[in-house]
Amino acid sequence: MSQSSKARIYIDTNRVISEISPLLFSGFAEHMGRCIYEGIYDPASPHADENGLRTDVMDALRDLNYRAMRYPGGNFLSGYRWEDGIGPKDQRPRRRDLAWQSIETNQFGTDEFMHFCREIGTAPMMGVNMGTGSIQDAANLVEYCNSPTGTKYADMRAQNGHADPYNVDYWCIGNEMDGPWQIGHLDVVEYGKKAREAAKMMRWHDKDIKLVLCGSSNSQMPTYPEWDRIALELCWEQVDYHSMHYYATNNDDTDSFLALSAEFEAFVDTLAGTLRYVKAKTRSKRDVYLSWDEWNVWYKARLADDMRGDWTEAPHLIEEVYNLEDALVVAQWMNVFLRKSDVLKIACIAQIVNVIAPILTTTDAMLKQSIYYPIMLMSRLAHGNSLDVKVNAPMYNTKLFGDMPLLDVSSSHDAETNTNAIFIVNRSQTESLPVELIWQDMMPTAVNSAYQIAGTDPKAANSFDNPDVITAVAIEKPDISDGQSTMMLPPLSFTVIEVAL
Ligand code: AHR
Ligand code: AHR
Repeated sequence: MSQSSKARIYIDTNRVISEISPLLFSGFAEHMGRCIYEGIYDPASPHADENGLRTDVMDALRDLNYRAMRYPGGNFLSGYRWEDGIGPKDQRPRRRDLAWQSIETNQFGTDEFMHFCREIGTAPMMGVNMGTGSIQDAANLVEYCNSPTGTKYADMRAQNGHADPYNVDYWCIGNEMDGPWQIGHLDVVEYGKKAREAAKMMRWHDKDIKLVLCGSSNSQMPTYPEWDRIALELCWEQVDYHSMHYYATNNDDTDSFLALSAEFEAFVDTLAGTLRYVKAKTRSKRDVYLSWDEWNVWYKARLADDMRGDWTEAPHLIEEVYNLEDALVVAQWMNVFLRKSDVLKIACIAQIVNVIAPILTTTDAMLKQSIYYPIMLMSRLAHGNSLDVKVNAPMYNTKLFGDMPLLDVSSSHDAETNTNAIFIVNRSQTESLPVELIWQDMMPTAVNSAYQIAGTDPKAANSFDNPDVITAVAIEKPDISDGQSTMMLPPLSFTVIEVAL
């Protein structure tokens, strides 16, 4: 890249992609490692409240403004008997969790999860077990959560202290059922038929629930995207969302890693095409949208040993440490959520505490990792409509994706507050880039806020000893005149500005 090159971003509030679904800012909590136990629930911690929930963790989760929370798995879901996790705690069974070879005490279950969701102001998104679980078990759980009292499972809920139904809106029909690693893995026709029958029974209990079908576990699966097409053809009329999962990996090639949004977009595009195809083939009038309900960077803690609990309680599993380049990939991933907001309506970061998560805990302390900050900024500042911004940026070369623009950008406009937020990743490892922002249809009247996450070392990370290496800092608000502003974006940075129009 030449020193003199400059980038331009053109913003026009008429160029609307779609309304941004708030559920794009959701999380995922699995009974795995130390996510539930020692993460959100830890009666032994000095930070625990009277219910054993970590108050410090809940404060940090509230700051991330998660709109929905997927639970209880993950691979754990496919061997889970939900009835183990309700009723008097001293009568709940200890079980061997085969997914993570850990001991599950069942001290946290459905009722504790509902309470936790209320505490942090998020909507529960429950999974039903399609591995060892039957369609009857799935329907029973809907009755337990959503039916008025007067029948067996609703009365069990009342006996456990919750007379009013929880009215859970979002339900996932199994987890990664395309994966041979899944407990009770099925082929796509077996899964599609079972999911369809489960969906019918679940909806007969509550016609208003929204259902998420299992899509491919990642875009490298040998069955992708045929799994998606066939499952959708079998279940189109019964479901509302189709799930996609993806974990980003880095083969010691930061230039390519920082261009991964190309891969994220291609994955969405293929599935969006699949949705259109199946809608046409089934002659349907309704739409099904995408739910990216597991996504994150995950490549450091990926050895077999990171995934086996050796039959202990709350083992340290896949406790990935996140650095600056990971935060920049998370930021552009969320840019993709905005750019694809016409088809993508739910996204859950996997996971929320300790297990590949923005937050790490010890019994008495908590650490916000680098990826905490882009999630917080986007979840708080991206609302209203997503805008199709025009970006002219210098290119750089990557091994995996060829030439890619140095900038990755998204933007939102909230017509109610008349605010416009712009989210910009500078992928360069070495160059500061002057960027001209040009508002085409409306003049900004003030800069409300400007934040930046940046650093010189892509591998720099926060630690309990040094917790503020990578954070979001308020930067000087840029000057705007005549609907234009120039900002100098440092290398390896994520910059967010919010203006009043
Ligand atoms: O989030 C960790 C695991 O990754 C989940 O249990 C599984 O669904 C995925 O493969
Ligand atoms: O063995 C664990 C599985 O391997 C994960 O659930 C999946 O994401 C990965 O491919």
